[in-house]
Amino acid sequence: MEVIIQPTREAAAHLVARIIARELRANPHLVLGLATGKTMECVYRELVRLRQEQGLDFSLCSTFNLDEYVGLFPSDPNSYRHYMEHQLFRQVNIDPRNTHLPNGMAEDLDAECRRYEATIQRFGGIDLQLLGIGKAGHIGFNEPLSALRSRTRVKALTPTTLEQNAPFFGGEDKMPRRAITMGVGTIIEARRCLLLATGDSKAAVLAQAVEGPITSMVSASALQLHARCTVVVDEAAAGRLAGKDYYRWIFANEPEWEEYR
Ligand code: GLP
Repeated sequence: MEVIIQPTREAAAHLVARIIARELRANPHLVLGLATGKTMECVYRELVRLRQEQGLDFSLCSTFNLDEYVGLFPSDPNSYRHYMEHQLFRQVNIDPRNTHLPNGMAEDLDAECRRYEATIQRFGGIDLQLLGIGKAGHIGFNEPLSALRSRTRVKALTPTTLEQNAPFFGGEDKMPRRAITMGVGTIIEARRCLLLATGDSKAAVLAQAVEGPITSMVSASALQLHARCTVVVDEAAAGRLAGKDYYRWIFANEPEWEEYR
């Protein structure tokens, strides 16, 4: 794992957008795994700017989102499909046919999960997976106790997650209780993982994920098993990391990061 600490939320998100842009320029057919949530909005804004101002080309790339709520129509303002359409897809030159999210309205949800895994395989697997982290330590909706080898499946949301996301729905009672999510095993098969965490509300869980033991209680800790995982944080989210000075030293000295310093 590499941990990069940036002074602000914006600087962290911009660095993530630059890493994505660089991968996309190097491989226009990139298979990009995407994430939702407040943290990512700044990343998508920056990618839209790079499209508008530098002509960053999305026309050949394909995307797979981590998760989707069960029981919401794609047009529902709280669905992750709706989020993606507004934050990114409609503002860049991506081919809508190449954008994939699980269908939370599928009649047979288990079959939908198998279909989603098979589609990822058919596209040759995910090259770069963007990730946020939930307050319960989840990546995607892999809530505590998610098996480290789990695949795409339906998960019940925990009270912490319901509480965290309820404001978007106008209350917990209006919120779906389940979601389809890529499994931890699906996620760590991506060739590269890129996790962004900002704000002090993520500091404790981020320290557990990066420096704590690998445990299904904090599904993000499974990223310690990944051969190429970059974690980008702002100062606030880095607040509880014990190895901060060491991470800063690596970022300042590692030639790979020269163009990002
Ligand atoms: C949801 C998503 C996660 C995301 C998390 C954090 O639970 N399923 O993929 O990482 O929210 O969201 P935020 O960025 O709003 O803190």
